[in-house]
Amino acid sequence: MAEILAIGEAMEQALALLEGGDVVAIPTETVYGLAGDATNGVAVARIFEAKGRPRFNPLIAHVADRAMADRIAGFDPLSAKLAEAFWPGPLTLVLPQRAGNGIHPLVTAGLDTIALRMPRGFGGELIVRLGRPVAAPSANSSGKISGTTAQAVAADLGARIGLVVDGGATPVGLESTILKVENGKLRLLRPGGIGAEEIEAVAGAKLSRGATGIEAPGMLASHYAPGAAMRLNVEKIAEGEALLAFGRNRAEGWERAVALRNLSERGDLREAASNLFAYMQALDLVGAATIAVEPIPFEGLGEAINDRLARAAAPRDNTA
Ligand code: TXA
Ligand code: MG
Repeated sequence: MAEILAIGEAMEQALALLEGGDVVAIPTETVYGLAGDATNGVAVARIFEAKGRPRFNPLIAHVADRAMADRIAGFDPLSAKLAEAFWPGPLTLVLPQRAGNGIHPLVTAGLDTIALRMPRGFGGELIVRLGRPVAAPSANSSGKISGTTAQAVAADLGARIGLVVDGGATPVGLESTILKVENGKLRLLRPGGIGAEEIEAVAGAKLSRGATGIEAPGMLASHYAPGAAMRLNVEKIAEGEALLAFGRNRAEGWERAVALRNLSERGDLREAASNLFAYMQALDLVGAATIAVEPIPFEGLGEAINDRLARAAAPRDNTA
């Protein structure tokens, strides 16, 4: 079983694991990540193994600073502006790789682009100490809800990894927003911890949506799937359902719900995002066959919340 150590006492052990080509679960501002040295193929293979990923999807490489990012990838002016505005933070940029950057090809699934992010807090400090970028997908087994607490990560992956660094509940609660600049235009590959409006304000341009080609396999239809079925935008609760609520007004028949969690009593989308995965998991544990979800507005982080809910509700694809 994985050891859980508080951030204050975990640095040396986490560093030793990374230096030895092993993996370690670490807190970031978005969700917990399952980290390994991005220049070490064995470490990266261990990440896939621990997650039980059926396919080698490209991973996000995490950097300590812009200098490290510049050694790995080329920045066009718009990407540079976004990095300046949002790093460190919940933004991932897909950029062209530089030749000979040392990143193991398993990180990028052999693509000539790479997804880069600069995390806040413990992760950032760990990368500074290691002196190399760290590949880290969300710390959950394939197809499961992303872990937002050390306990959730340990319950899911604990048998397969040695250490979970406990930084408490992750403040954002959703994965990073993934963007790619193509021919000077900005494309949203995955809605996430920074709302589209905030990005558009900095970019001075609209985001385009709708992925083409490979893009985000994290976008496989059935991802973040709880064991229970999910029913979205409900106005009326059916017998035996658990209720994932939002805001002050309850869906009709809410008193019937076998369990209830409110993402945000006061209708705050940031609070809702930070509670989303933990509450889906909590309702799932109650054992109800279906989790009914009240409508969530689409603005700001609501886009990412609705995206994750739609994936959780999608028909289960057991290859994902
Ligand atoms: O908040 C986050 O982003 C978390 C924390 C741990 O940093 N990480 C995370 O990683 O969500 P993961 O592996 O679960 O999701 C990475 C996403 C996938 O959807 C993948 O397809 C996409 O990034 N991705 C990676 N490299 C890419 C590339 N070169 N082009 C397009 N998409 C890419
Ligand atoms: Mg993930």
